[in-house]
This record gives sequence, C-alpha cells and structure tokens, in this order.
Amino acid sequence: MTIHIKFFGHSAFEINYKDYLILIDPFITNNPDANVDIKNLKPNDILVTHAHADHLGDAIPISKSTGATISTIFETANYCEKRGANAQGVNIGSSVTFEWGKATWLPAAHSSSTVDGVYGGCASGILLEIDDVKIYHAGDTGLTYELKMIGEVYKPDVALLPVGGFYTMGPKEALIAVKWLGCKTLVPMHYNTFPAIECDIEKLKTSIESSTSCKCVVLRPNQSFKY
Ligand code: NI
Ligand code: MN
Repeated sequence: MTIHIKFFGHSAFEINYKDYLILIDPFITNNPDANVDIKNLKPNDILVTHAHADHLGDAIPISKSTGATISTIFETANYCEKRGANAQGVNIGSSVTFEWGKATWLPAAHSSSTVDGVYGGCASGILLEIDDVKIYHAGDTGLTYELKMIGEVYKPDVALLPVGGFYTMGPKEALIAVKWLGCKTLVPMHYNTFPAIECDIEKLKTSIESSTSCKCVVLRPNQSFKY
C-alpha cells in the first residue's frame, strides 16, 4: 500500500495512507513556504515533536476546527488542551496505536517551549510505523548518539532530518546521522525557510549519495513523494 509524504516546507508534513491523513508539526501560518489554507487540512491525527512555534504551528486551530487529536509530549499536550484543542500527552518511549499504524516518541537533543514562554516538556522525534514502513521525523534534534540507538533499535526506512544548522544539526552532522540511522531514504527539512538556516541542498544530496547508499529526496514545498 502506497504512502504519500507531502512537504509543506520547514518541518511540516502530511502523511497520507489509505483514507488517513496525519499531520506532523503543522507550521502553516507564518511559514513562508507553505502554500495551503489550513481550512483545507482535515487530518485524522496531528503529531507534534515539540512546542516551538515553528512546529506546534497551527496544531491548536486545526484540532479545534476538525476535532483531530494532537498527540505530543505531556506538557505541550496540556498547553493545547487548555486552549481548547483535543490532545493526548505522551513522553519519550511512548508508543501509541492509531487506526493507521503506530507512533513512537523518541529522544531529540533540543529544547521546547511555547511562543508565550510556557515550558513544553522535552523535545522529541517521532517514528511512524505504517504498513511495515517506518518513517522517522527527527524534530529539531542536534547530532546525538541517540540517533545511533534509533538506527539499531527502530531501523527507519525513511528519515526526515533537519539539515539547516543554527537551531538544529547541519549538513555535516546530517551525513553522520544518515549513517547511524541506516535509512534508505532521507528527506531534508528545516532549511532555507529563514536566512539563519540557509543550506546548499544539492551539495548535501551529493555528499549523502556519494558516501552512503541512502537516496536523498529533496522535496520542494507542497511537493510529495510516494513510498
Ligand atoms: Ni525547535
Ligand atoms: Mn524548529
């Protein structure tokens, strides 16, 4: 069964499997690359790696208008619930079963707070298991040995990794992360949205593909690919 992975720019993705739509880190408003009206987003579930505004994004209004549940780290989930969203709090190591598959929250080396300064709990990455395909969204992590653990234990097929540097790992670290994760496909994210995270993505693609067997799929905003 085909899985469609759509990129809205930055770290925002929509995963489509059968009739299910899963949004991850839906930063749409204020995302200069996103070209979609949030009214047209009708997810079954919203998964959020951490509370920073460029990740929690429009999760609360989308949950309020569609009823979709936001699954995220406990403190961030509480914040969402207090603002009228449906949310369920998870933590590092949590695995949640959904109608479309399973999601597991994994460690990320990063921080987490909301736009108004509320502590968001720890930052995370999320592994989705859908029909035997494992898709790992790394959130905003820096390079950490946890990625080696994730490669050994969870063996992701597709890795969505931040590559823009400054707030997260950069291209040099992303190459090491790909080796540790052992993923077959890399989709770079969290680059070129803002001047601080500019990245020569063709150079990164060449470096990944010349030194690993991983294919680097560069998605333009609003483009998707099938897996
Ligand atoms: Ni962040
Ligand atoms: Mn970020």
